[in-house]
Amino acid sequence: MLQLKKAGNQALDILRSEGSFPPAWQSMEELETKTNNMVSRFLDERFKVSKKFGGGSLLTELLDRVLRTSDTECMDDTKLPETEKLELVQALDRQNHQMQLYPRYVALLLSLLEEITTGEQRKLRILELASGSGGLALALAEEAQRKQLPISVTGSDIVPKFIEEGNRQAEEKKLPLNFQLLNAFNLPEFPEGSFDLMVISQSLHHFTPGQLATIIAQSAQQTKTAFVGIDGYRSILLAGGVPLMASLQGIPSFALDGLTSARKFYSELELDLIAEIATGKREHTVSCNWPLSILTVRFDRRSPD
Ligand SMILES: C[S@@+](CC[C@H](N)C(=O)[O-])C[C@H]1O[C@@H](n2cnc3c(N)ncnc32)[C@H](O)[C@@H]1O
Repeated sequence: MLQLKKAGNQALDILRSEGSFPPAWQSMEELETKTNNMVSRFLDERFKVSKKFGGGSLLTELLDRVLRTSDTECMDDTKLPETEKLELVQALDRQNHQMQLYPRYVALLLSLLEEITTGEQRKLRILELASGSGGLALALAEEAQRKQLPISVTGSDIVPKFIEEGNRQAEEKKLPLNFQLLNAFNLPEFPEGSFDLMVISQSLHHFTPGQLATIIAQSAQQTKTAFVGIDGYRSILLAGGVPLMASLQGIPSFALDGLTSARKFYSELELDLIAEIATGKREHTVSCNWPLSILTVRFDRRSPD
């Protein structure tokens, strides 16, 4: 529920047959604007289709509309002191550990990396965007160290305190890991193919469709093999479950962030559409690995170093 795949697919067919999807773009600014416009056009078209279907489809569409929000999470509030932001991402880190999410993410990313870089002997580089507390980057680097895999990990975020704290932990644990201050949708010009894999977890909904398309397009320029985006699955169950789970941490603003996030999770078709606009191709998959949506965009730019 809340995925509205049947109505969404019909809406997308209408946009394709009109020739308006996927829109062409020349610059990142144009990509951002056109993606935002196209996703809102898609949602309007889907609403019209759902109205035609009536019944359960229309009810679900109305519920989806009531739930949708563009509110900003407390942790992204520019006025919130960084120490309080750190408390929020550390609460998320505890929750991720309780739900045993990191081993799942690590297994998924390492098996993808193994599959797409078979036979390559060189060191593989992973860049994590919006890494928050750095829990995933740390788990990846710990696994690489434990299995003696030739992998280096760079975590990144827009909050300086997270970078400081991440680098402190990486140094203390002597891991093949460093953290850099980066704005996920305005990356510096890393040389082409600087990273083998770019990943962003539990943060896709922190970005507008246009920002997310920019992130994917930048990744296509700077990453050799793939971009992976992991986030919560848009559903009624998570709209109730995420804030409930978050409330167990006893931090009201964290519980509120849980609710805001679940209201903002992208549906699979929205992710599909955003990736197609960003790449102009259909070389990506969107899958459900409950309670997660996983977007994998392949670039296949392998070359010996
Ligand atoms: C929900 S947290 C996820 C953190 C981490 N990935 C995790 O799963 O624990 C969202 C993160 O996105 C970061 N963020 C928001 N806007 C950003 C931007 N423009 N560039 C980089 N990071 C950003 C926030 O600082 C925060 O750490």
